[in-house]
Amino acid sequence: MTNVLRLAVCDPNDASRQDLKTMLLGIDVVWLDADCSRYEFFADVVGQTEPDLALISLDSNPAKALELTARIHQEKPGCQLLVLSGSTEGSLILQAMRNGAREFLSAPLKLDDFLAALDRVRHVTKRTSTDAPVRSSKVVSVAGVCGGVGCTSLAINLGCCLAQEMNRQTAIIDLDLALGDADVWLDIIPDYTIQDVAENITRLDYAMLKRSLTRHDCGAFLLPRPVEMADHLPLAPDELRRVISLLKATFTHLVIDLSKSYGPLDLAAMEASDDILLVTQLDLPSLRNAVRLMQFLHQHEGMIDKVRIIVNRLGLEDNQISLSKALETLGHEVFLQIPNDYATMVEARNNGVPLLTQAPRAKLTKSIQQLAQLLSPGAVSDDKPDDKKSRKGLFSFLGTSK
Ligand SMILES: Nc1ncnc2c1ncn2[C@@H]1O[C@H](COP(=O)(O)OP(=O)(O)OP(=O)(O)O)[C@@H](O)[C@H]1O
Ligand SMILES: [Mg+2]
Repeated sequence: MTNVLRLAVCDPNDASRQDLKTMLLGIDVVWLDADCSRYEFFADVVGQTEPDLALISLDSNPAKALELTARIHQEKPGCQLLVLSGSTEGSLILQAMRNGAREFLSAPLKLDDFLAALDRVRHVTKRTSTDAPVRSSKVVSVAGVCGGVGCTSLAINLGCCLAQEMNRQTAIIDLDLALGDADVWLDIIPDYTIQDVAENITRLDYAMLKRSLTRHDCGAFLLPRPVEMADHLPLAPDELRRVISLLKATFTHLVIDLSKSYGPLDLAAMEASDDILLVTQLDLPSLRNAVRLMQFLHQHEGMIDKVRIIVNRLGLEDNQISLSKALETLGHEVFLQIPNDYATMVEARNNGVPLLTQAPRAKLTKSIQQLAQLLSPGAVSDDKPDDKKSRKGLFSFLGTSK
């Protein structure tokens, strides 16, 4: 068992301990190593099993449980402590934290709260039981600067390329809730949509979540847009955040095909992302919008640093502006160029198969494979956009466009 956090649980209350165990059994990034019903024995249990995490329920006897927390913290400083209580009393929370608890969780424990806590403690838990690095997951949003710029083609084919590696589990989320067509690209008739997942979020465990996604033959999973169009948002930004955090615990890569409305859901997705692929073409309306979008992202803390500019359809004859002029205008490095190959792309879409199947040797396919490599955890450099590049006027390239 690799990349899994080992956990020991202490809860003297049989019913709530059983609920906890049931929940934990559905989580494949956590291995329940030991469960204990007595505070008196738990320090020994932790001493023997040496888990990465210990979860202590405080409510049966808060004084004893807090003492136990302090003891484990002292004896096993490498073990991350999580405590659980139905109380929201400030003094209890404070004491638990002082005694070494890293997370104070509300009882009854909700799956998404636990996952969020796992995500936080995972960064300080250096090693798993097998000494393998803890699995991390990468969220990539695909954002387009104009309709039809190539976001869905890119999101789908990137997801399929990522899914090729044995140790990667990839899910593609179609966040173009009104007109998304990711299912068409993969020729999938899904049973469930993002709306079903959002509506059942508090009841889902991992097995159920995975069943809600439809698997394509290439190995990628798809979470499609809702079946029907609605005049209201089918899920709230908070619900989307929960869906993403649940999926992150199961999948190593999430690729999100954003809508082009840049509303609250797109923003929530971009906030949760490690990389934002800004897809543009080298024509005037696209570049103008790219600048506009980057100005918008500048207003949201931390967003602009995640932007990776993808120039799609390089070589397309219409309205092309030279790459160097585009670069100058954007004031941002180009992360990757994808060649124009309409015949291949459209054939893949019409056949409902990824480029990897349709045209494995095409330059187009190779460029998306290269993108998948660049986006694998650890591969993306921390290169910041080249801020030093001059940002001349928005239309300064017009005089010299090719
Ligand atoms: N690199 C490429 N070379 C040639 N054609 C491409 C390329 N990338 C995308 N296309 C074509 O461009 C068209 C639009 O692509 P796609 O649907 O992926 O764009 P989109 O940004 O998702 O559009 P929408 O705004 O409708 O969501 C499709 O016909 C697709 O085949
Ligand atoms: Mg699209």
